Amino acid sequence: MSAIIDGKALAEEIKQKIAEGILKNNIVPVLAVVLVGNNEASHIYVKNKKKTAAEVGMDCRVFELPESSVQKEIEALVDKLNNDKNINGIIVQLPLPRGIDANNIISLISPEKDVDGLGVYNAGRLAMGEPNIVAATPKGILYMLKSAAGDLTGKNAVVVGRSNIVGRPVSSLLLNSDCTVTIAHSKTKNLQEVAKAADIIIAACGCPKIIKKDWVKKGAIVIDVGINRIDGKISGDVDFDEVKDIASYISPVPGGVGPMTVAMLIDNTYNACLKQLGK
Ligand code: GUN
Repeated sequence: MSAIIDGKALAEEIKQKIAEGILKNNIVPVLAVVLVGNNEASHIYVKNKKKTAAEVGMDCRVFELPESSVQKEIEALVDKLNNDKNINGIIVQLPLPRGIDANNIISLISPEKDVDGLGVYNAGRLAMGEPNIVAATPKGILYMLKSAAGDLTGKNAVVVGRSNIVGRPVSSLLLNSDCTVTIAHSKTKNLQEVAKAADIIIAACGCPKIIKKDWVKKGAIVIDVGINRIDGKISGDVDFDEVKDIASYISPVPGGVGPMTVAMLIDNTYNACLKQLGK
């Protein structure tokens, strides 16, 4: 039976530290969230970010645009928020409606306000091994791994998924932590064998319960990034009930990576605010 990496508890610790820092510095960091269209999950995530921000004493302002918005309208809003010195952090909630070039919009966010760390500048800095603002989910995953295993040097890490939000940046972070990193994806051959060689598995492909017990080496650490809705129930990319008997540590869904992502977004916004104020 493995130990559970309790993302909810770790996130509470991080939030507590931020709340204390906000009080001590006598500041109210402001996070702007651009929310376009009617994606139901996005509305839930944004509500959650707003609630978490309020818990630590941060102001989260949501700027909603209709589903019918065109590229230029969304870009104009980002531009306005960039130029508003009362705003410390900006995120554009993904996915954006069809036909919108999300990468272009995200890369318009000023690097010092890009608290999702997904713009070209911050993503590039991470890939170069000189991180500035690190994307929230990968940052949360690394925190969870270090809290479980300590030093990651020399570990064989397999990342399943190559998205810009998780797979690619978490691979860079693991590489920067001296892991040997394999990025697996939908065209990878013998995925099961590749996964089974790993000391660390990061499951981030959006494939419900794809990681089974015979895909995991005994004692491996397994982080589940999947959020799949099936018949109204949320399940991860890992078959938790099977894998929990094999892994040394495992993160659950829900209560694993999800709360850590929100905590790290809030942490990035807090730090961006301090930096902008020269504190
Ligand atoms: N949608 C799913 N995950 C994320 C994220 O980390 N940031 C943003 N902006 N949108 C998302």
